[in-house]
Amino acid sequence: MSLEKSLKHYGMLFGSSRVMELLYEKITRVAITDATVLLVGESGTGKELIAQTIHQKSPRREKNFIAVNCGAIPPHLIEAAIFGHERGSFTGAARQQIGCFEHASQGSLFLDEITEMPADMQVKLLRVLESGTFLRVGGDEEVTVDVRLIAATNRELEAAVSEGSLRSDLMYRLAVFPIQVPPLRERNGDIELLAQLFLQMLNIKHHQRKTFSRRSTDMMRSYPWPGNVRELKNVVMRAFILSGDVITLDDYMPDTSARRPELHEGTLNFFVGTPLADAQRELIQATLKHFEGNKRMTADALGISLKTLYNRLKEY
Ligand SMILES: Nc1ncnc2c1ncn2[C@@H]1O[C@H](COP(=O)(O)OP(=O)(O)O)[C@@H](O)[C@H]1O
Ligand SMILES: [Mg+2]
Repeated sequence: MSLEKSLKHYGMLFGSSRVMELLYEKITRVAITDATVLLVGESGTGKELIAQTIHQKSPRREKNFIAVNCGAIPPHLIEAAIFGHERGSFTGAARQQIGCFEHASQGSLFLDEITEMPADMQVKLLRVLESGTFLRVGGDEEVTVDVRLIAATNRELEAAVSEGSLRSDLMYRLAVFPIQVPPLRERNGDIELLAQLFLQMLNIKHHQRKTFSRRSTDMMRSYPWPGNVRELKNVVMRAFILSGDVITLDDYMPDTSARRPELHEGTLNFFVGTPLADAQRELIQATLKHFEGNKRMTADALGISLKTLYNRLKEY
């Protein structure tokens, strides 16, 4: 069967599994509305791609799609980044500057890693969602905006709320239309099809005709892909660069079923009552070692932002 026939897609999202079809259906329904969408799913499952797809399938498609990673902006700058600031509102604010909300006017605003947004900003965001207006930093004039909001998190909502990284009132307001994004390992059949798609794209781009060995397709099916589609894409890319005509993908995977016993060496033991900060440090360092120093993969596996990881490493 050719790849074109067996691999379905919806906008930029590829996948033929039942769970993906259900996802496409949900996107179709919600895209035409103005409802706020909350995407919940592990890192690398395609949340940003889904947010873009919702925008593209919406009546707002001709206007801006603005993406903000709340975990990547220093907390003291986030308010000005999102709401803009007036001239002279703080040292260095030489002129008025509009923020993401105004940039996304009549379009869509994607707030990624919403649990990384400081609590006081979450209150302000809730207020905008309820009133449709806000103040620029240092301003006293209400600004009215028409923006469709899409938020995302890789954390379990209940856990994020109970540990205080997501205010429950904001969570309820954001989750008008929640979408649970399935991890790659639950998308039956898609792993192989996506790997073939990524390989095909690389072949076309680099005028090659590389193929996967049979063993490597077996391997990909049995690997749990903790980094999801992002990890798969990276592994295929690395294998493509390093292999000859036949790609033996298993050489480039961080862990496969054949090597899985080693995983037991990759466990950590803590005494009950170990200070959280100590456990966290050891876990971060061990995970970083497991991914051979790859910070992106480490952050993804731990479910934290790259920025958070850098901050922790700096502390250590
Ligand atoms: N269903 C999909 N089809 C094709 N590419 C995908 C799919 N899902 C994710 N990707 C790709 O995987 C990578 C990670 O996706 P992203 O949307 O950034 O994930 P997340 O925001 O959930 O971490 C991107 O390169 C994206 O293009
Ligand atoms: Mg993302």
